[in-house]
Amino acid sequence: MLNKLTSPMGSPHLGATSAQYRNRMPAQFRRLLPLYVVVVVFVLFFFNLNLFRTATRENAVVQPAATTNNDIPKVVRDQFPKKIWQTWKVDPFAFEKKNLDVAKSWTTKNPDWRYEVLTDGNDIHYVEFHYGADGFNRTDIVDFYRSVKAAIVKADLLRYLIMYAEGGLYADIDVESLKPMAKFIPERYNQRDIDMVVGVEIDEPDWKDHPILGPKSRSFCQWTFMCKPQLPVMMRLIEQIMAWLTEVAHQQGVELAKVDLDFDQIISGTGPSAFTNAIIAEMDNAADVKKKIEWDTFHDMDESKIVSRVLVLTVEAFAAGQGHSNSGNHDARAALVKHHYHASGWPTKHPRFKHPAYGEVESCNWKDECVNKWDKDVAEFEKLSPEEQQRIIAEKKKEREELEEKKKQEKEAAAKKKQNEEDARKKKEEEERLAKEMKEKEAANREKEANKGKGPVNEDDKTEEGAEKPKELKEGEKVEEKKKEKTK
Ligand SMILES: *[C@@H]1O[C@H](CO)[C@@H](O)[C@H](O)[C@H]1NC(C)=O
Repeated sequence: MLNKLTSPMGSPHLGATSAQYRNRMPAQFRRLLPLYVVVVVFVLFFFNLNLFRTATRENAVVQPAATTNNDIPKVVRDQFPKKIWQTWKVDPFAFEKKNLDVAKSWTTKNPDWRYEVLTDGNDIHYVEFHYGADGFNRTDIVDFYRSVKAAIVKADLLRYLIMYAEGGLYADIDVESLKPMAKFIPERYNQRDIDMVVGVEIDEPDWKDHPILGPKSRSFCQWTFMCKPQLPVMMRLIEQIMAWLTEVAHQQGVELAKVDLDFDQIISGTGPSAFTNAIIAEMDNAADVKKKIEWDTFHDMDESKIVSRVLVLTVEAFAAGQGHSNSGNHDARAALVKHHYHASGWPTKHPRFKHPAYGEVESCNWKDECVNKWDKDVAEFEKLSPEEQQRIIAEKKKEREELEEKKKQEKEAAAKKKQNEEDARKKKEEEERLAKEMKEKEAANREKEANKGKGPVNEDDKTEEGAEKPKELKEGEKVEEKKKEKTK
C-alpha cells in the first residue's frame, strides 16, 4: 500500500525521487508518514477554524457597539436627504380635501423629492425599527414613545425622531409650500456647510420678561424645518423631552400616560421654546463660536445667516403674515411656506391662561398698547375686593356678549349685502345677454329681408330702432315681439 502511494501513476521521475527518500528515511517513519500528514492537516484545520470564529465573534461585538452607543458618530453628509415628511392621523389616500390640497403643494413643486406620511397606525413601528435593539438600540426611547398618550407631545417627539433617524424636511399637515425646495437654501450657501435649516417664528424680545408672553417671545418654528440625519441636537432634544415629561409625571404623582399638560407647559416642554433653546444651546457649545449665542443674534435679521452650521432664515421664510415680528406677507419673495393653522386643534385640549375678566393676552397678537392695557387691567383687578372682581367679570362678560352679537349682526348684514349685490349683478348680466341675443336675431332677420330684395331705404331707421328696443322690453313684451317676428 505504501509503495503504491509513494510511486504514483508509475511516473519514472517521481518513482526515482521517492525511491531516493525511501532509502534515506527509517522504515518506521516511512510507515507512519500518512498519519503525520493527517495530524498536521487536522491541527491546521482547527487552528484556522478557531481564528475564523474569533474574528466573527469580535465583529459581532465591535460592529453593533459602534452603532448602538449613545454617542453615535456624527454623520456629516454633503446633501440634505431629498425627503419630505409629514405626520397625520391617516395616510394621504384618506386625507380630507383641505389637507390633500395643501399636502399636494409639496409634491407638485418638488418632483425630485420623496414624500412620506407617518400615521397613528404606523408611527410606533417606525420608532421600533429605528430605535429598537436592531437600530440605535435606544429601547428607552421606544418605551417612552409607547407610554406617552398626549397627542401633541407624541407629534412633537415624532418629528424629532424622524429627523434624527433619517433627516430631510418636516412640515406640519397644514403647511403649504409656496416655493420649490431649491429656494430653501439661498444660492450663496453650500449645503456642505449646513446641517440644519430653521426659520424665525416669533421675534418680540421686548416681551421676554412678560410672565405669560416671555417664554414664547423668541422662537424658531418647529412646524417646518430641515435636518441632515443623526444631528446631536435632535437627540439632545429627544432626551430633554423624555426627562421633562418624566419629571412632570413624577410631580403630578401619575404615570406618563396620565400626565395633564397646559398650553404653556407644551410650548416650553416639547414645542417651539424647547426646540429653540436646544438649538441655541447647541450653537453656543460649538467650538468655532467665540461670542455667546443668544437671541440677539437672530433679532431683526435683514437676511438669513449660518451660525454653527445651522442656517437661520428670516421670519418671512416660514412665518409670513402673522401680523407681528415684522413678518411681512405671503406674497414676499422670501416667503417659502404658508401655515394655514387648520390642524392646530391642540390648544383647546391644553388651555392657555385666560383671565376671568380680560381673557387671553395672546389675543393682543403682540401689539404693545393692547398688551400694556391687559397687564394694567389685570394688575388693578388683583387689588379689588372679591365683590368688585365679580362685578367686573360680569360687566366684561356682558361687553363680550354684546360685542359678539354686534359682530354677528355685522357679519349677517355684510353677507346679505354681498348676496344682494350678487343678485343685482346676475340680473344685469342676464338682461344684457337677452338684449344681445335680441339684437343678433334682429340683425339676422334684417339681413334675410335685405336679401329678399326689400329697399335699403328704411334700413338705417330700423337698425337704430332695433338696437334700442330690447333694452326697454319687459318679459311680456318680449314674447309679443317674438310673435311679431315670427309672423313677419
Ligand atoms: C443594547 O443596549 C443595552 C444597554 O442599554 C445592552 O445591554 C445591549 O447589549 C445592547 N444590544 C446590542 C445588540 O448591542
